[in-house]
Amino acid sequence: MSGSGPSLAARVQRWQRRAGRHDLPWQRTRDPYRVWLSEVMLQQTQVVTVIAYYERFLARFPDVHALAAAPLDDVLALWSGLGYYSRARNLHRCAQVVVAEHGGRFPGSAAALSALPGIGRSTAAAIAAFCFGERVAILDGNVKRVLARALGFGGDLSVAAAERELWAAAQALLPERDIDIYTQGLMDLGATLCTTRDPKCPRCPLRTTCVAQREGRPLAYPVRTRRARRGTRRHALLWLVQGGRWWLVQRPGRGVWAGLWSLAEFESAEALETASARWPGRGERLPLIEHALTHFDWTLEPVRWTLPPRARLPEVLAVDGGAWFEPAAALALGLPAPVRRMLQSAVENADSGAAQGPMTTFLSRR
Ligand code: ADE
Ligand code: SF4
Repeated sequence: MSGSGPSLAARVQRWQRRAGRHDLPWQRTRDPYRVWLSEVMLQQTQVVTVIAYYERFLARFPDVHALAAAPLDDVLALWSGLGYYSRARNLHRCAQVVVAEHGGRFPGSAAALSALPGIGRSTAAAIAAFCFGERVAILDGNVKRVLARALGFGGDLSVAAAERELWAAAQALLPERDIDIYTQGLMDLGATLCTTRDPKCPRCPLRTTCVAQREGRPLAYPVRTRRARRGTRRHALLWLVQGGRWWLVQRPGRGVWAGLWSLAEFESAEALETASARWPGRGERLPLIEHALTHFDWTLEPVRWTLPPRARLPEVLAVDGGAWFEPAAALALGLPAPVRRMLQSAVENADSGAAQGPMTTFLSRR
């Protein structure tokens, strides 16, 4: 501890009251359902994006009973575009556990909350601090960065022992009172001032005691030596059209975009070309989709193939989990965001009577 002036917690609280965020839709409530929903959405998505999703979600599922009773497909459809769909599946499972095992009431401590699906230690602590005033530390990515910098914590956070040490430090810094304001203050500091690439130290309430700032090297923290190496993958997507309907396939329950509806996927453009060599109709290449996922960059090569009216479904597609959809019904499904954007643009172009995009490449005609 630096010993000079008010504690770190007191500075964070004073700053939060003066300059933090107070009007987000999930603040001013102590309803654990609402706070839980917001925290899960905010785990990997920014506030500006979350707000609209949060409100739509609550309008459709106003309480944990409504969510637990809903079909998973409806939950995924409302989640569509937020990404990281395992969050939506866990959300649904968690609601069912809360209803089945806790009588529809979220448990009232961080320890019990963290036993539920999709609620990690930091999310459990945030819910318990906001809803029950429990004195318990959070340590999400933003807060790790703030505390590592403020304390000059040099441990390597890709090592579990160092992470445990930072948890202990975070716990030791907690204020006696108003844990909710402190918790929100740390989150707000990380999101608005102590940002990853551009920390605004001159405006920061911790600047006079912050070790990283004193050393003149805020970006040196947090330390992480083991970098996940990003891979790349490439696949082809088949957008099969017949009589104005689209052939969509529900993706398997595990892996990328698990459980969402999407276009049929092929190993490669060559594999799709080989498969389609004897199909009736015609195909056209569409602009590539580049999509960044957590562990790899994904390039998708979409081909739109139009089957003549009475042609049969190509045999390779006659597997479980595929179906024809009218465009409006298709767009109401849980679709991966980049696939939705592509399909949506087709509808908009059709509505406006616009010609096909300039990047379309004609493949074949029979
Ligand atoms: N990120 C995670 N939790 C948050 C919250 N409660 N408010 C703003 N941003 C957040
Ligand atoms: Fe982050 Fe700068 Fe504040 Fe330190 S002084 S906590 S580096 S914003």
